Amino acid sequence: MSRLSEVDKKHVWHPFTQHLTAGEPLEIVKAEGVYLYDSNGQKYIDANSSWWVNTHGHGHPHIGKAISDQFNAIDHIVFAGVTHPKAAELAERITKLLPESLEKVFFSDNGSTAVEIALKMTFQYWHNKGEKKQRFLAMHGSYHGDTFGAMSVGQRGYFNEPFEPFFFDVDYIDFPTASNEEQILKRVKELFQTGEFAGMIVEPLVQGAAGMQMYSPAFLDRLTKLAHAQDVIVIFDEVMTGFGRTGKMFAMDHCQEKPDLTALSKGLTAGVMALGLTVASDKIYEAFLGEETTKALLHGHSFTANPLACAVACANLDLFEQEQTWEGVRNLEKWNALFADQLGRIKTVKNVRQQGTILAFDIDTGGDSTYFSDIKTQAYAFFLEQGVLLRPLGNTLFVNAPYCITETENMQVQKAILDFLAKLG
Ligand SMILES: Cc1ncc(COP(=O)(O)O)c(C=O)c1O
Repeated sequence: MSRLSEVDKKHVWHPFTQHLTAGEPLEIVKAEGVYLYDSNGQKYIDANSSWWVNTHGHGHPHIGKAISDQFNAIDHIVFAGVTHPKAAELAERITKLLPESLEKVFFSDNGSTAVEIALKMTFQYWHNKGEKKQRFLAMHGSYHGDTFGAMSVGQRGYFNEPFEPFFFDVDYIDFPTASNEEQILKRVKELFQTGEFAGMIVEPLVQGAAGMQMYSPAFLDRLTKLAHAQDVIVIFDEVMTGFGRTGKMFAMDHCQEKPDLTALSKGLTAGVMALGLTVASDKIYEAFLGEETTKALLHGHSFTANPLACAVACANLDLFEQEQTWEGVRNLEKWNALFADQLGRIKTVKNVRQQGTILAFDIDTGGDSTYFSDIKTQAYAFFLEQGVLLRPLGNTLFVNAPYCITETENMQVQKAILDFLAKLG
């Protein structure tokens, strides 16, 4: 065992890892463009964009320069009672990209906190208005993060069972399919008519951790409309879908009806510096104004609006202003669509689905799709041998590569997938 793995084994506790049975971790010592390099000099295509965060490849010089320039200006400061140029710039630019109604930006550090803050804003909105609305609506299969509020509105099950007694109550709707949409909407209408609902949260169009499950903008429009008709606050968790993943800047850009709150992270950061944003409508923000301090959102983190992270996010937006980035998004969409056709003809493949740069399908294992399917271990190891880092979710394989991936690199990913499927027979 290498010195790195020895130290890691002795002192490091990894996320989502059963350390008794886990093998040695992959030692990544360098990252450049779409490639990750291990300590033996092997390189791997980062086909899941390092947990879905990387947008323009690793070590992008424009991002590097932004960090260095910002470090020489301000590294970090308290954000209560203080502002700084990059926070203001980012807030202005992000609100210009979002629908007009989303105007006020609250900073945090990651996707879970961005969601947590949206939930706190929702509950406090009603509290400040003196109305007792405490019920919440979420969707089965959803994942909104690992803090308590975020877990409360996520899919209940193995992942959060020990904590379930401490969650707040949530009403769940089924994941929409062609056959149950009308039924779901009928039930939602009845629930919302009780007048007891504070809010609802969804991953718009694509549920990420559930295995890239996709549903239509038309359904989401109807759901959001029902919520708004009864004054229910709508949160779109765009942590995974934001920043080009669905083919447009935000998943909500595919929809007519817009949320009252949105949570952003992952693609916002270019995959470089941890940052989360919760963006609220003026209607929400105004409910927090008043003479009493207790009406304010009494929430914050040491690294709220960290200037380095804000500078990176601004540099990330610069790159989104370049035609080349959107050409990358469109290429991925096109290559995914062609590959989806090819996959659809393979007998072990089912439920091929695509939304923009995200392509997913299930491997038919003869049973239900689950996260614990051991096919993911086989697939992960096989892909590494082919020079591709791809982390399946159970028997669901999905690709969401950085937008700078070339056709040749993308073909290497597709070939690795086809070879794995061929091996399965
Ligand atoms: C839709 C969604 N919301 C929230 C989160 C949590 O984000 P983070 O891991 O940055 O806390 C994730 C992470 O995968 C996500 O996909």
